[in-house]
Amino acid sequence: MSDNDFVAALLQRMTLAEKIGQLNLLSAGEGPETGSPAVRNIEDRLKSGRLGGLFGTKSVRSVRAWQEIAVAGSRHGIPLFFAEDVIHGHRTIFPLPVALGCAFNPQLWHDVARVAATEAAAEGINHVYAPMIDIARDPRWGRIAESPGEDPFLAARYAEAMVKGFEGDDPTAPDTVVSCLKHFLAYGAAVGGRDYDNANLSPEEAIGVYAEPFRAGVAAGAGSIMGAFNALNKRPMHAHRDLIRGWLRGTAGFDGLMVADYTGIMELAAHGLGDRETVAGLALIAGIDMDMIGEDYLDHLPRLAEEGLSRPESGIAIPADDIRAAIDEACGRVLALKHRIGLFDDPFRYCDEERAARFPLAPAHRRVARGAIAESSVLLKNDGILPLAPGKRIAMVGAIADDQTNLLGTWAVSGDHRQAVTLLEGLHASYDGPITCVKGADIVDDEILAARLNVHGQTVFLDPRSAEAMLTEAVHAAEAADVTVAVVGEAKEASGECSSVTDLALPEPQRVLIRALAATGTPLVLVVKAGRPLALEEEIGLADAVLYVWFAGTEAGHGIADLLTGKADPSGRLASAFPARTGQVPVFSQAEPTGRPYPGRFEKFKTGYLDLPDSIHPATGLFPFGFGLSYTSFGYGAPRVDAARLSGPDAEAVVRVTVTNTGPRPGTEVVQLYVSDPVARITRPIRELKGFEKITLAPGEARDVAFRLTRRDLAYAMGETMTSVAWVWDPGTFVLGVGPNSRDLQSIEIVWSA
Ligand code: NOJ
Repeated sequence: MSDNDFVAALLQRMTLAEKIGQLNLLSAGEGPETGSPAVRNIEDRLKSGRLGGLFGTKSVRSVRAWQEIAVAGSRHGIPLFFAEDVIHGHRTIFPLPVALGCAFNPQLWHDVARVAATEAAAEGINHVYAPMIDIARDPRWGRIAESPGEDPFLAARYAEAMVKGFEGDDPTAPDTVVSCLKHFLAYGAAVGGRDYDNANLSPEEAIGVYAEPFRAGVAAGAGSIMGAFNALNKRPMHAHRDLIRGWLRGTAGFDGLMVADYTGIMELAAHGLGDRETVAGLALIAGIDMDMIGEDYLDHLPRLAEEGLSRPESGIAIPADDIRAAIDEACGRVLALKHRIGLFDDPFRYCDEERAARFPLAPAHRRVARGAIAESSVLLKNDGILPLAPGKRIAMVGAIADDQTNLLGTWAVSGDHRQAVTLLEGLHASYDGPITCVKGADIVDDEILAARLNVHGQTVFLDPRSAEAMLTEAVHAAEAADVTVAVVGEAKEASGECSSVTDLALPEPQRVLIRALAATGTPLVLVVKAGRPLALEEEIGLADAVLYVWFAGTEAGHGIADLLTGKADPSGRLASAFPARTGQVPVFSQAEPTGRPYPGRFEKFKTGYLDLPDSIHPATGLFPFGFGLSYTSFGYGAPRVDAARLSGPDAEAVVRVTVTNTGPRPGTEVVQLYVSDPVARITRPIRELKGFEKITLAPGEARDVAFRLTRRDLAYAMGETMTSVAWVWDPGTFVLGVGPNSRDLQSIEIVWSA
């Protein structure tokens, strides 16, 4: 029977209370909570049919136990679905999304999702709260760690790939899960980078930038979407009817399940939209199908369904019929999702303990995780010290050099750090030479900060020794070595949800350590572990090489050792530009032209910063989007086009470039294409990524890379309001720039007439 027929028949047999019960979504309370209040009397909810889904289960046994109660407690035997935050892996943890973003490889996102889906589904999980596809341009925002980075084109490719990886071709297959695009919309544009704060964006940015990955994810078949905590242009997203029912369901064609974020409906009251009953009605009418944690639907929809919602003082008048129709619609979507994935046929879908034990951390899964590290780590500087020549005496320094607790990064809720490989272990396994390891400094030295960072388990251990004693030990180790490898960066909880910061510099004790190590004269390699772009202006100057490895996950030590020893080439390219200093944020490649452009050095009455060195571009940062080095070098020929003049809507522009490996080693390069539209109806970004291709070349090998552009690729979003935004295209000249990053481009022009 089709989902629709099944749902229609079932809805007819359900009471209003049973329908509202399906809209309730609670946490199983088996992992960390990310807000309050979490309801604990789940059993009571299940026995009375007042729960539609549960998230955060941690074993197949508990899934079975909850499901048995749910099916028995429902007159119609309606099963629960089980959801989980599977953000960058389930049991096998991959590098953070902000790191995977640097891979410029959608296939890798697909593969990561496949592995994660296999592991999660084996434990009875049917629904994952991923991919997180919030464009993020402000690294003060801690959740940039979970984001695919700053660029809508790149993020859209990742959204499609991950949705397909999670959902596969058959929703009932034992290794597929329903994906959830989040957070709709513009959560990453929080003012000041403060988590949960609001966003104010032009309609062009909201739809043309922040909504782009959602459009792509919906087109790829995403089964669900989660609302965002923030208000966008003064309208809280959990009550944003125009964007949810209008843009998402209308323009983008989304017909899946829309879930609230954690207490997101209840929080509408704090946003100032009215009391809890009012906001329950507003969220439902806006199109939020399920209420996560807050239980306002459970508490208030029964009365609203009888009496409607009338608040003349706020201009709200929603008839009871509309509320009942919206309940039917929302409940229908919950049931359709459950039917589509086969839960009505088998509520215990492939849930058995033997199967569940087979997949987590399987060698094949760890292999994908290890390979992902080479693809997502970014070599920011190399004066020739990397890869490490064998036989050198290595001094490894840093609190996170041999520490498992800070490897997985944020939102690895089912990962076990005891399974993770430290860098010291990894290097011991693959480096042929003596290694000594000392701490050198605490990650942070402020006790209040340390306590905040230890909120989800201890990862910051303040050393009983004095800072001087640790520093002296590290300096001696560096002096006695041929190369110092300093492993520096953030503690696990320093980035992620509710981990916004005002300072993007490394914590002070680690800065002091780096200065002291550099002063020894021993060549210094920095391995930086972090969940956000840090401001490393001073450290880049002090170190001989800087490898940015983010939080690299379960296989961290092996994957980073592969890079340090040269077994792998670092092929990550920045998916988020790096500021030189905190005060420079936001920096990103889609900067707009100004009437007084930066002339390449500070000049009075031109855009720029008085206190920034001339060499650092004020708008695009210390390291631009797309930047990253390899252990070899690449030469780019001049770009060529098949035709410089095009006409008509169906033409296709083709730009080609020859890329040559000019160095002594095999290496991987990300060839990038950017487009500028110098004359348009509105101010357009100076450049926009429109294509990329990752290629591996042997020494001396040359390859032609071709990019194809249609007129849709050159269109841009324009409108007076978010819901009236249309994609428009202007005939005329377009500048196509090809190169290794968004700054170092060679360009060629085409003229495209109507
Ligand atoms: C809050 C987070 O914002 C969201 O991303 C997550 O999926 C939910 N909590 C559930 O854990």
